Amino acid sequence: MIFDILTLFPQACAAYLKASILDRAQKAGLITVRLTDVREFSFDRHRTVDDAPYGGGDGMVMKVEPVVAALESLPGKPRPRIVLLSPTGTPFTQAVAQELAGLERLVLICGRYEGVDERVRKLAVDQEISLGDFVLSGGELPALAVVDAVSRLIPGVLGGSDSAAADSFSDGLLEHPHYTRPPEYRGLGVPEVLLSGNHAAIARWRRKESLRRTLRRRPELLDAAPLGAQDRELLAEIEQESKAGHSG
Ligand SMILES: C[S@@+](CC[C@H](N)C(=O)[O-])C[C@H]1O[C@@H](n2cnc3c(N)ncnc32)[C@H](O)[C@@H]1O
Repeated sequence: MIFDILTLFPQACAAYLKASILDRAQKAGLITVRLTDVREFSFDRHRTVDDAPYGGGDGMVMKVEPVVAALESLPGKPRPRIVLLSPTGTPFTQAVAQELAGLERLVLICGRYEGVDERVRKLAVDQEISLGDFVLSGGELPALAVVDAVSRLIPGVLGGSDSAAADSFSDGLLEHPHYTRPPEYRGLGVPEVLLSGNHAAIARWRRKESLRRTLRRRPELLDAAPLGAQDRELLAEIEQESKAGHSG
């Protein structure tokens, strides 16, 4: 999959892309991430990329011409999905990441200042994505979050073939807790079942803790999660346990 990030601060993206899983995925040719410096497409000698808002008010607005010129400098094929990162977009979720992972190309436009001139949206943008209900100084972190979350879903990017499938949200639930060595730390042990070697019992425990955590922390997710008969049984057990004072 090919990602193009359009930004005024390519150096802010480069370091993250050179670390760990994303670095390996690029070296293995599973993903390509290109950084385009929008400032290269400013058309005056001062390299202006922003201007005061029409109608007055605080802040500056990213100009339409450099952004559109940067977009038009990219190869046209395969036709990319063009996404603008914006707090006014639709929230980024695992389901959105899953859908984007099926694309061949994704262009991510990072805003700065008060945001981009509305005509960028009207002329070129297919979709607006928000990282959440908060305001960052630029679209670079959200763009990197999208590249990271989408790349994890591309076959071969993660070492273990099913590690993304077990992640939180993939099956509509939060993930179960994890433990590793040592077996005891500052008086805290590890649930016995995880040391038992009984794979069926471990799978049951993990599913139950996943349901328990979702019920406690994000109960609204349970309404949409595809739950089976065993899940209902486990939820009934959890309810019994919480009546009996189990802390989970
Ligand atoms: C300071 S913000 C602009 C905020 C804008 N004035 C508003 O209130 O909606 C500058 C840029 O950061 C990016 N940004 C900030 N918060 C974001 C979020 N939660 N999700 C996605 N992008 C965000 C966008 O690209 C935005 O154009």
